[in-house]
Amino acid sequence: MSQAATMPAPAAPPAARLPRHLAVIMDGNGRWAQRRNRPRTLGHRAGAKAVQVCVDYCLAHGIGALTLFAFSSENWNRPEDEVGALMKLFLRMLDSEVDELHRRGVHLGFIGDRSGFPDTIRERMRQAERQVPADVRLALNIAVGYGGRWDIAQACRSLAEDVAAGRLAPADIDETRLGERLSLAGQPAPDLFIRTGGDLRISNFLLWQLAYTELWFTETLWPDLDDSVLDAAMVDFAERERRFGLTSAQVAPAAGGVA
Ligand code: FPP
Repeated sequence: MSQAATMPAPAAPPAARLPRHLAVIMDGNGRWAQRRNRPRTLGHRAGAKAVQVCVDYCLAHGIGALTLFAFSSENWNRPEDEVGALMKLFLRMLDSEVDELHRRGVHLGFIGDRSGFPDTIRERMRQAERQVPADVRLALNIAVGYGGRWDIAQACRSLAEDVAAGRLAPADIDETRLGERLSLAGQPAPDLFIRTGGDLRISNFLLWQLAYTELWFTETLWPDLDDSVLDAAMVDFAERERRFGLTSAQVAPAAGGVA
């Protein structure tokens, strides 16, 4: 019997060591399908099931915020039939999942430039965002038409409009003010970033918000995501020392620092 077969799978660490906010680049749908000689769009459909795995995991472990990169600003340049299939899939998911997510205490939000999306999808997004559970257990942010550079640019534009209207002095613009205009304002910055699919980059996702986020990469293709992959990421995260620019001594638990 191989060693791997006898090794127990790593279980998730205790809740206090888990991220409060998880951000994910769900990569590898196309390759997952191609390896099966199937069209890429089938990979996206399988990817939608992995979204459920990830949401269930966050709910089961009390992770309060999950941000998923579903469609980047650059993804508009993919072949027309793939973009069309993704739009259909988004609409189908909005129609089939929103009520159940709401019932389970999930509040859906969408970040990104929605201007390119069909009216039907934009309207369904607005409806979903208005369905706020009485007891929100998970803020599920779906990034669509999103780019980190777009996000920073739109925040700057918003500040510039206030300056032009005399509501804000340029000298008052600082990191806090800019952060307040970004897409995920009001939510803690992601503690952990996961990218599936083997590439080691952040691809214009949450550029500002990931400043002190722990990064974790896996070869696993997104549709193959399961609890054991997420557990492995959580175990690794729990062992990281997050110093936020301080020294090890300053953040050691005995010194009452940030773990
Ligand atoms: C990246 O894989 C994935 C996408 C561009 C689409 C992600 C969409 C889903 C997971 C389904 C719907 C999800 C939600 C939240 C509505 P890729 O196509 O770049 O894969 P590849 O690198 O193997 O080509």
